[in-house]
Amino acid sequence: MVAKVDADAWVRTYLDPVLPSTPGARVLDVGAGPGHIAEAVLRARPAAEVVAFDGNPERLAAGGPAGTRLQRRSGDARALPLADGSFDVVYSRLMLQYVAEREAAVAEMARVTRPGGTVVLFDLDGQLVWHDPVGPELRALLDPVTNALAAAGFDPHTGRRLYGLARRAGLTDLDVRVDPYHLIAGRIDPVQRGQWELKLDIARPLIARALGSPAAGEAAVAAFLAHLDSEETLTYSVAFTVTGRRR
Ligand SMILES: C[S@@+](CC[C@H](N)C(=O)[O-])C[C@H]1O[C@@H](n2cnc3c(N)ncnc32)[C@H](O)[C@@H]1O
Repeated sequence: MVAKVDADAWVRTYLDPVLPSTPGARVLDVGAGPGHIAEAVLRARPAAEVVAFDGNPERLAAGGPAGTRLQRRSGDARALPLADGSFDVVYSRLMLQYVAEREAAVAEMARVTRPGGTVVLFDLDGQLVWHDPVGPELRALLDPVTNALAAAGFDPHTGRRLYGLARRAGLTDLDVRVDPYHLIAGRIDPVQRGQWELKLDIARPLIARALGSPAAGEAAVAAFLAHLDSEETLTYSVAFTVTGRRR
C-alpha cells in the first residue's frame, strides 16, 4: 500500500513552530486516523505526551502500538471526552471536511486547549472539484459523486471555511496559509497515481451507489484515471492551514 503522506515532513512544515519543547507538553490530534501524524509529533518532540483521537476505532487500531507517550482514544470530535484546557496544542488534519457540524468540532478543539495554547486546522479546498478540461466522461463522474459526498456531510471547500470557523470558536492571532496540495499537470507520476488509486478504492462503494451500479462506478473510475494519465489535463487543490491561539 502507498503511504498517503510524509508525516515527518508535514509535522516539520505545519506544526514544528508551535510545538512546545517542554517535557510533558500535551498534544492532541483530532481525527487522527491510524495516527501517523501523531507518531511523527512524538518523533519531533520525544518528551511530549500525544493523544491520537478518532471516531473510527478500526482506523485507530490500524496504527502502531500505543505507548506511554502516545495514547489512542476513540470518540466523536463534536463532543470530545477530554477536560477543558488540558492540551498545549490541538490540531486536526483532513478531518473537518467530513464533519457536517464542523462548528461544534472546532469549538470542542478550542475548549480542550489551555488558555494561551494553540489550535491548528488543516483542510483542503477544491479536492475532486478542480480539473481542466472536464470532458463528458469526467463530468458524469464528478457531479453525482460530489453530490453524494455533500449529502453525506463532505464539503470539498472546507479549506476556505477554516478562518471563519476559527474566529467563531474565539481563537485569536489567526494566521492563514495556503499551499498547493494536489497539483498534477500532465501525466500523473506513479507515486501519486498509487495514492489516487487508494482514495478511489476507499470511495468505490460510494461511487457505485452514486452512479447506480458497480459497472457504472468502474467506468467512471477508469475515466478519472484516464484523465490523470493524460498529458493534456490538469488537476489541483489547495490546503489551508489556520493557526490560532486560545484566549
Ligand atoms: C482523511 S482521514 C485523516 C486522518 C489523519 N488526520 C491524516 O491526516 O492522515 C479523516 C479521519 O477523520 C475521522 N473522523 C471523521 N469524522 C469524525 C468525527 N466526528 N469524530 C472523530 N473522528 C472523525 C475519520 O474516522 C478518519 O480517520
